[in-house]
Amino acid sequence: MRLTAPLYSLLCAATVFGASYEDWQRRSIYQLVTDRFATSDGSSPACNTSARQYCNGTWQGVISKLDYIQNMGFDAIWISPIVANLAGDTGDGAAYHGYWTVDQTSLNDHFGTDGDLKLLSTTLHEHGMFLMVDVVVNHMAAPLLTGTANSSDPSAPAPAVNYAAFTPFNNESSFHPFCWITDDANQTDVEQCWLGDAAVPLADVDTENPDVVAFFNSWIADLVTTYGIDGLRIDTVKNVRKDFWPAFAQSADVWSIGEVYDGDVAYVANYSEVLDAVLDYPSFYPLTRGFQNSSGDLTQLAASVGDAQHAYRLGTFMTGSFLENQDNPRFPSLTTDQSLIVNAMTWVFVQDGVPILYYGQEQGYAGADDPYNREALWLSGYEEDKPLVVHVRALNAARKAAIAWDNATFLGTPVAFPVASASQLAVSKQPLLALLTNAGASSSPSWSVPSTNYSKGDELIDVLSCSTTKVGDSGAVAWTGSSGMPAVLLPTSVFNASYCNALKNDISGDTGSPWVAQSAGEELRLSTAGTLVAASLTILFFAVWMA
Ligand SMILES: *[C@@H]1O[C@H](CO)[C@@H](O)[C@H](O)[C@H]1NC(C)=O
Ligand SMILES: *[C@@H]1O[C@H](CO)[C@@H](O)[C@H](O)[C@H]1NC(C)=O
Ligand SMILES: *[C@@H]1O[C@H](CO)[C@@H](O)[C@H](O)[C@H]1NC(C)=O
Ligand SMILES: *[C@@H]1O[C@H](CO)[C@@H](O)[C@H](O)[C@H]1NC(C)=O
Ligand SMILES: *[C@@H]1O[C@H](CO)[C@@H](O)[C@H](O)[C@H]1NC(C)=O
Ligand SMILES: *[C@@H]1O[C@H](CO)[C@@H](O)[C@H](O)[C@H]1NC(C)=O
Ligand SMILES: *[C@@H]1O[C@H](CO)[C@@H](O)[C@H](O)[C@H]1NC(C)=O
Ligand SMILES: *[C@@H]1O[C@H](CO)[C@@H](O)[C@H](O)[C@H]1NC(C)=O
Ligand SMILES: *[C@@H]1O[C@H](CO)[C@@H](O)[C@H](O)[C@H]1NC(C)=O
Ligand SMILES: *[C@@H]1O[C@H](CO)[C@@H](O)[C@H](O)[C@H]1NC(C)=O
Repeated sequence: MRLTAPLYSLLCAATVFGASYEDWQRRSIYQLVTDRFATSDGSSPACNTSARQYCNGTWQGVISKLDYIQNMGFDAIWISPIVANLAGDTGDGAAYHGYWTVDQTSLNDHFGTDGDLKLLSTTLHEHGMFLMVDVVVNHMAAPLLTGTANSSDPSAPAPAVNYAAFTPFNNESSFHPFCWITDDANQTDVEQCWLGDAAVPLADVDTENPDVVAFFNSWIADLVTTYGIDGLRIDTVKNVRKDFWPAFAQSADVWSIGEVYDGDVAYVANYSEVLDAVLDYPSFYPLTRGFQNSSGDLTQLAASVGDAQHAYRLGTFMTGSFLENQDNPRFPSLTTDQSLIVNAMTWVFVQDGVPILYYGQEQGYAGADDPYNREALWLSGYEEDKPLVVHVRALNAARKAAIAWDNATFLGTPVAFPVASASQLAVSKQPLLALLTNAGASSSPSWSVPSTNYSKGDELIDVLSCSTTKVGDSGAVAWTGSSGMPAVLLPTSVFNASYCNALKNDISGDTGSPWVAQSAGEELRLSTAGTLVAASLTILFFAVWMA
């Protein structure tokens, strides 16, 4: 076997990163905005999203609603940033989202105490769940001495930032000189100029400065240890030089997934070399375009994934896939056709990367752009029998059953698209076959998959409807759906009919099912030796796969 370039980079990288890669790969993540998820006392205050103020969700609130999350089959949560933010109101509202750091060394007391965050972490671990924390390194948001800047007018005077308000970087010398980012094609501009706007300029930290680098590397190691953090979601990764990240990730010593806000596979691929994983923005765009209406083209999604499978270190296995997040319009704000919503949601759970669901999607929330996509979840009543909640539970159950059947096969076989047309996608990831369509609720979609790896006569069950079919000659699968709905097929030897039916009714998650996969007290972290073994196994596996 020839040592190909991507395999070579894998060999270099796998021994450095990926301390918890094996642990994360089989999980599903529920992303929440702490301020909007649950209150400490279970109250349901009115929350005006357009006002952009704190609505008083807390870490205690998250603890009280962990069962709601776990009953859907999630075994990890990603919470919004935890450190102290810009106080009070600004022209852009308050810092309820957590992305406006002022003090890296204190917690945001709106969300609770040090003890509350530690209790969240230990309670998660008792539930066999992981904690992922969102961190921002690229910039900080200080109060302005006077508000003179204007991001639409680069010639306007620079903002007068009160650098003394920052901890620890209370001196202008820790920041890049002011300039707004104006040219996305100029990487120096992207890395060294400022994000934000006139109301809240985001002072760009000088991540070339060795003192700054030393601070962040020691800070992240402390943060992870202090709060028992299992993984990081890193904000604005493309706005910091790439070679800052390996030492940062290594200091954190947990799985880290970076936000590289760009739809271009080639651009994002470079960041797959410096972090454990990237949020899958390149597939997010063709996913939303493809399922937004029946004129969408699903071949674009297949093409993007095919490109990424070759371009990224570890292919698309090192991505986090999502349909919604705090920065983009919720999908039901783009279409009200429930069949399209159900199809698009399904993709996230049947692909190679780690599935991420943004809180509220399961309740049918439809807020468009920020701030409307950050609704308070308590206003939904956390109902567990709504169609989309049941849908998410079924998707997680299907994924967990596929992993439980043979984790190396399911987690290690890249998705294939035996059918890819503008209106249909057959997504094959052994032992799972998902049949997706954008034909819409008025259609009765009919799929004919000419060849799969199933054997003739195998019985397959659709996890969503509990209907079954038999595999034909050469592994052919024929399926007719109704009302534009997708199918998620598994062999009945992997997912049986009684389990399928129980899943539709059971909201407590206590059927002894594979979707609550981890038990309390499970070894959550690999030892150093274990890490090396896992890394070598990964190398071995991919070497075989790529040969
Ligand atoms: C919500 O906030 C917006 C913006 O501050 C305001 O215009 C609107 O009146 C508020 N709505 C309610 C119901 O208070
Ligand atoms: C959040 O708490 C603050 C301080 O107690 C209070 O002023 C505010 O009205 C609360 N917000 C909501 C949405 O209840
Ligand atoms: C910012 O600059 C733009 C373009 O020059 C101008 O239209 C706008 O009024 C300015 N905004 C403020 C708040 O000065
Ligand atoms: C800020 O840093 C500069 C350069 O290191 C130094 O000359 C200056 O005294 C510092 N200012 C304060 C207020 O510490
Ligand atoms: C790129 O951006 C930097 C920072 O704004 C600027 O100094 C430089 O001139 C730009 N280069 C080009 C080719 O525009
Ligand atoms: C990726 O990195 C390589 C090596 O630094 C660079 O030559 C290339 O332009 C980058 N590609 C993109 C799309 O940024
Ligand atoms: C379908 O969605 C696309 C965006 O992907 C949009 O440009 C187009 O106008 C929509 N077509 C219809 C018929 O709504
Ligand atoms: C599959 O599970 C076994 C036993 O838990 C573990 O040792 C192995 O690393 C897993 N493989 C993958 C690809 O996750
Ligand atoms: C069948 O299995 C082979 C080997 O694992 C794989 O390359 C191929 O993509 C699979 N085909 C389908 C349709 O899943
Ligand atoms: C069906 O699957 C469930 C859950 O995996 C299992 O407990 C049960 O024994 C299975 N029933 C049959 C008849 O195989």
